[in-house]
Amino acid sequence: MTQVSFGQYPPAARTIVNVSDTHLLADNRPLGGRFDTAANLHATLSAVERTGVRPDAIVFTGDLTDLGEPEAYAALRQSVEPVAERLGAPVVWVAGNHDERPALRAGLLDAEPTQDPVTGVHDLGGLRLIALDSTVPGWHHGDIDAAQLEWLRAVLAEPAPLGTILALHHPPLPSHIPFFDILELRHQRELADVVAGSDVRAILAGHLHYSTSGTFAGVPVSVASATCYTMNLQRPAAEVNGMDAGQSFHLVHVYEDTITHAVVPVSAAETADFFTAEWLERMAELSPEGRLEAFSRKR
Ligand SMILES: [Fe+2]
Ligand SMILES: [Fe+2]
Repeated sequence: MTQVSFGQYPPAARTIVNVSDTHLLADNRPLGGRFDTAANLHATLSAVERTGVRPDAIVFTGDLTDLGEPEAYAALRQSVEPVAERLGAPVVWVAGNHDERPALRAGLLDAEPTQDPVTGVHDLGGLRLIALDSTVPGWHHGDIDAAQLEWLRAVLAEPAPLGTILALHHPPLPSHIPFFDILELRHQRELADVVAGSDVRAILAGHLHYSTSGTFAGVPVSVASATCYTMNLQRPAAEVNGMDAGQSFHLVHVYEDTITHAVVPVSAAETADFFTAEWLERMAELSPEGRLEAFSRKR
């Protein structure tokens, strides 16, 4: 039994796993001299598999590698593809400011190594996932140029049966950390003009290395943290730096009327074992009133 529904909402129609900021380096050199990005990615992918979820897609929202090295893309592919195959899920690669478009295209998409934006439209059983490329070759800040905006406008002109999710690296949100403002996504007003009134239901992003959320043009935005290292937000904004802890990924559940973004910490913490599949089956055998009696009534 995997799909039961005891409440007002039918089970999610689609499920997406959002992983971000893997920042792999060739030969697994430690990132910043201290972070083992390959081991941390492996831990995240193991955690994804432990959920038992069979996602409709695994979306990597950028900074796939730290320096755009071909060897790093090869290592990423080697780590991710067997997991995606076991889960039966397509992988969606989104470019980040640390990536290099030509090497990404050649290494992950088997495409020509050009500087063209890495964009894509994926049909996840009626749910449309659009990958945007917010990177600017040679720079770390974000932007969506006029050509890509026009392309997006044309794609969105035709709505999808279950609506659309956008995925891009630089979130169209403010950050309370000042240095992120320097690298922010530019031309947000122009992007908002394209998104407003369309069938876009959610925006997935990365880049910040911490999990956050907000709204943009009335659409919920969810930022997945990183697998490589995360920002230690326990510090004052001016002193925030990376730490080798707090890694997480997002489980995105797409319901008919809403989309939820659950933050899943990558943790080996000891966990209780009260709730089990057998417990759930016992609940399923009861009437709604019986379930309330068995599980809601205070003893
Ligand atoms: Fe990053
Ligand atoms: Fe980034």
